[in-house]
Amino acid sequence: MAQIIAIANQKGGVGKTTTAVNLAASLAILKKRVLLVDMDSQGNATMGSGVQKNDLLYSVTDVLLGEVPIETAIQKAEVGYKVLGANRELAGVELAIAEQEGREFILKNALKEVESAFDYIIVDCAPSLSLITVNALAAVNGVIIPMQCEYYALEGLADLTQTIDRIQKALNPNLEIVGVLRTMYDARNALTRDVSAELEQYFGKKLYDTVIPRNIRLAEAPAHGLPVIYFEKSSKGAVAYLNLAAEMLKKSKVKKGSAV
Ligand SMILES: Nc1ncnc2c1ncn2[C@@H]1O[C@H](COP(=O)(O)OP(=O)(O)OP(=O)(O)O)[C@@H](O)[C@H]1O
Ligand SMILES: [Mg+2]
Repeated sequence: MAQIIAIANQKGGVGKTTTAVNLAASLAILKKRVLLVDMDSQGNATMGSGVQKNDLLYSVTDVLLGEVPIETAIQKAEVGYKVLGANRELAGVELAIAEQEGREFILKNALKEVESAFDYIIVDCAPSLSLITVNALAAVNGVIIPMQCEYYALEGLADLTQTIDRIQKALNPNLEIVGVLRTMYDARNALTRDVSAELEQYFGKKLYDTVIPRNIRLAEAPAHGLPVIYFEKSSKGAVAYLNLAAEMLKKSKVKKGSAV
């Protein structure tokens, strides 16, 4: 069964999409079968995977509206994984499904159809708690929370963990925080180190050892429609996301082992 993981944080610009794209690419390089689902009408994860958001014949919008089977809407990308793309049309879905029964579970039900074809399904979320994001959080087994180590990150933390708790209780008992990822990390900065220490205290083992440094190649790669590993494979960003994927695989093996 696929591990289905949302990359979520209500705060904008913390590296959700960068993480979704580069984690998907890294897991694929480590021979995992990966689907990336873009649940943000900005379509950044779609574009960052080399899929033109405005040329999509079908997107996640059509799947949520029940217009096409999910298999039809999944694109084969050139980057080692498959993509269920999004574009601005997704913004209109919210209203269209608002009154529908089971509206929170549309993505979950759709993913059931394809789950067995993948080892990992990574869902990139928008920086909001819309019904679209609720669909994402209802469909996954876990959440990875990317965080920038700055003062305001801590402020948003309680909100975020409360949201996850609420959704876990109301819609998805399986939902758990699988990991917290420090992004745009600058070890020379004292505030980064302070916030990092607080995150360690708050999240304990859930905080990934791997940190993602601030790296210009990570910011440049999306303009070329490429995960950073295909753009500059020896860059610090590429190495960091590969390390993250390896850390994730190792942790999930340990967890499986201990459950036996
Ligand atoms: N480690 C990094 N080093 C340098 N730049 C980065 C890094 N991570 C992300 N960025 C850049 O920071 C900006 C925000 O990143 P990203 O789009 O991944 O955040 P997001 O959380 O998905 O944003 P949104 O909330 O709008 O969806 C982008 O321009 C991205 O290229
Ligand atoms: Mg994003």
